[in-house]
Amino acid sequence: MSAPLPLLQVRDLAVRFRAGGVGLPGFGARYVNAVNHVSLSIAPGETLGVVGESGCGKSTLGRAILNLVDAQGGEVRFEGDVVSSHDPSSIAKLRARAAMIFQDPYASLNPKLAIGEAIAEVLRVHRKTQPEKVAARVAELLYLVGLSPELAARKPHQLSGGQCQRVGIARALAIEPRLIIADECVAALDVSIQAQILNLLMELQRQMNLSLIFISHDLGVVRHLCRRVAVMYLGRIVELGPTEQVFAAPQHPYTRALLAAVPDIDPDRTLNPAQLRGEPPSPLDLPTGCPFHPRCPHAQEVCARGEAPMLRASGTRELACHFDLPLNSQQGEGP
Ligand SMILES: Nc1ncnc2c1ncn2[C@@H]1O[C@H](COP(=O)(O)OP(=O)(O)OP(=O)(O)O)[C@@H](O)[C@H]1O
Ligand SMILES: [Mg+2]
Repeated sequence: MSAPLPLLQVRDLAVRFRAGGVGLPGFGARYVNAVNHVSLSIAPGETLGVVGESGCGKSTLGRAILNLVDAQGGEVRFEGDVVSSHDPSSIAKLRARAAMIFQDPYASLNPKLAIGEAIAEVLRVHRKTQPEKVAARVAELLYLVGLSPELAARKPHQLSGGQCQRVGIARALAIEPRLIIADECVAALDVSIQAQILNLLMELQRQMNLSLIFISHDLGVVRHLCRRVAVMYLGRIVELGPTEQVFAAPQHPYTRALLAAVPDIDPDRTLNPAQLRGEPPSPLDLPTGCPFHPRCPHAQEVCARGEAPMLRASGTRELACHFDLPLNSQQGEGP
């Protein structure tokens, strides 16, 4: 039996932002390569976690996949079709089948609009429901995310953060998506509410066979929720594979450092940057060679030369490192 066609295929995606400078040709303009040669694919119903330190490009990757930010290179395919800003119908098709849930549940809702209206708006724009059935469908969606349909008339400020995030999920579900990208979708909420929202998301993901890209700082939550995980460093994926394998036996030196900072992957503990040697290089002034080499305990001469190593297959995972380090080697040992 052949493998199912991936729902989403991202190949060599690159996004850069201009970061000041006077912009004279060859002089002054500086760029942040927020997403750099990123490739990944997701099957229908699959969950992929995206982790990495602040500023490594997780949100930009999510936004670029949904064409909410312009990419300067690479390709996104959704259900086999190329998504291109030169082809509005390809973007319309993508937006009809893929939605994003953001971190700040209040900021992503119009404060003047009752939440029932906010959901109805999505149904109307995407022509998901006949006009006379919109109210019933809004009530159904509210019920689906565990909110009483009586809340439909309330404005966002009359709801709690957790309730607002449920509305955000209801709006995402209103399009009957195949893919949801959740960007730190519970980071702004109390821990007890976080668990409720995450359980809801996972239940809906299973019920509807949604593909989910789950962007998070929280390695414990990613381990719990996601079958596969991508680890990003300075705009690149450095390791990608089955979550259990990557977390139990991280292969890339950066993944090792990231996980060493949270040995028991306790969701209440945050990353301790002291576990990593030195500072991350400025994204405006990346080193040649592997972007992790100045901080890497295994770095060799080759790591400082040429281009960054590309993501390559290594057993059941993918790895952007010149070496296949022994899985049980410790930091500080040679490759
Ligand atoms: N609109 C923008 N203009 C200029 N630079 C940007 C813009 N958005 C992001 N960047 C830069 O791109 C890089 C990646 O940012 P991004 O927000 O994608 O990181 P992130 O991994 O989501 O971080 P966090 O964990 O803090 O949310 C950073 O260096 C950031 O400063
Ligand atoms: Mg972000």
